[in-house]
Amino acid sequence: MTQPRQEVLQKLTPVLTKRWLSPDAWQIGVYEQLDGYRAIRKALDVHPDDLIQLIKDSGLRGRGGAGFPTGLKWGFIPQGDGKPHYLVINADEGEPGTCKDLPLMTYDPHSLVEGAIIASYAIRANRAFIYIRGEAVHAARRLRNAVQEAYAKGYLGKNILGSGFDLDLVVHSGAGAYICGEETALLDSLEGFRGQPRLRPPFPAIAGLYASPTVVNNVGTIASVPYIVLGGADWWKSMGTEKSSGPMIYSLSGRVVNPGQYECGLGITLRELIELAGGMQPGHNLKFWTPGGSSTPLLTAEHIDTPMDFEGVAAAGSILGTTAMQIFSDQDCPVYNTWRWLEFYHHESCGKCTPCREGNYWMVRTYRRILAGHGTVKDLDTLQDTADNIFGRSFCGLGDGAATPVVSTLKWFRDDYLGYIEGRTAPRLSEKSLVGAH
Ligand SMILES: Cc1cc2nc3c(=O)[nH]c(=O)nc-3n(C[C@H](O)[C@H](O)[C@H](O)COP(=O)(O)O)c2cc1C
Ligand code: SF4
Repeated sequence: MTQPRQEVLQKLTPVLTKRWLSPDAWQIGVYEQLDGYRAIRKALDVHPDDLIQLIKDSGLRGRGGAGFPTGLKWGFIPQGDGKPHYLVINADEGEPGTCKDLPLMTYDPHSLVEGAIIASYAIRANRAFIYIRGEAVHAARRLRNAVQEAYAKGYLGKNILGSGFDLDLVVHSGAGAYICGEETALLDSLEGFRGQPRLRPPFPAIAGLYASPTVVNNVGTIASVPYIVLGGADWWKSMGTEKSSGPMIYSLSGRVVNPGQYECGLGITLRELIELAGGMQPGHNLKFWTPGGSSTPLLTAEHIDTPMDFEGVAAAGSILGTTAMQIFSDQDCPVYNTWRWLEFYHHESCGKCTPCREGNYWMVRTYRRILAGHGTVKDLDTLQDTADNIFGRSFCGLGDGAATPVVSTLKWFRDDYLGYIEGRTAPRLSEKSLVGAH
């Protein structure tokens, strides 16, 4: 393992992760000792509109994948409309490779509760929900415990800290479907219906949960809020870049020596992140990687110096997404990996629209055929054509995400496909895996 250079180590900016290694920070007493529940006292003294302005000034952008400006989203909630408003926190975290929200909720659940209180106060919501995926049992337990502790201390419930503001916070476990991370499917699921995306408009800010104005934000977005309230917009902007402000939790997995979470200012490069993670594993050379989960176009070793912020990754032809950086080496096969992802997307497709439902079905079968050594060059054209007909023609982002690894591996790694077709690469799948394939 190579030790990171001092100048690279200095790029670590633990903000959201700073309590993760403190023993028992998930308990309210310890959280309070470590600066916890100080931000709500400050926030409840401020007019809600000023809080929205503060978040706008900080430049905070959503951490759930699309990077939408958070203050702007909060500002869309109509005020004085006489309807209930809701805050819904998206803790579904199903994107392959993504694993930043789970440790946050496990080791520092009160930071999310505190963020939920401030965000609800800002948008004038008296009821908030955390929608957490069903498999995350331990994190859900910690969250429920944190919510109970916060009620007992008067941070939740009626007349919070004598401010006149009331808030009830509910932790709701989903059943573990990737599509329920899509915000409108999540809302349907929360209402008790089958989780399928809704037609937009109307957007959730106008007609979201129970047809009322709703803000849906990611865990990392809401957990950032108390820090901005305490530190101010300028401090937040002192990390990151002009258009991508603040720290970001980068989740490195795969062929690095120390996979894990590295929180750094937005704009750090992959080269520096790999150095922080102890370098590539011995004998492995970087071949391809995802900047933000499997739904973001793959990049290659050539892109190692891409600044990992919203603009930098877009300029390289991909999307920052959830900063779930899966690192693959020359000993990994892009074709095989794409097939594994496609099996996931095919399984998770909700079936509502034809391009995604049918396209994924056929692409999975084509991949199985290629990987079993029965592919043809024409299959590559068919894959490209199918992916092109899914991308931009599906009802929601799941379809686009499924087409993405197909298009990017065909672009960068056509020869790896040809290896299976021309018999230069040994088949990875057996004949048995073709049963049911066409
Ligand atoms: C298929 C699919 C799955 C998604 N899964 C998640 C998720 O698990 N967590 C999340 O925060 N956003 C997820 N999103 C994005 C949400 O729809 C939404 O944009 C996000 O929660 C907004 O929060 P933010 O503005 O704080 O980023 C997903 C989107 C799609 C299309
Ligand atoms: S793109 Fe896929 S997941 Fe989204 S609505 Fe269509 S079938 Fe459902």
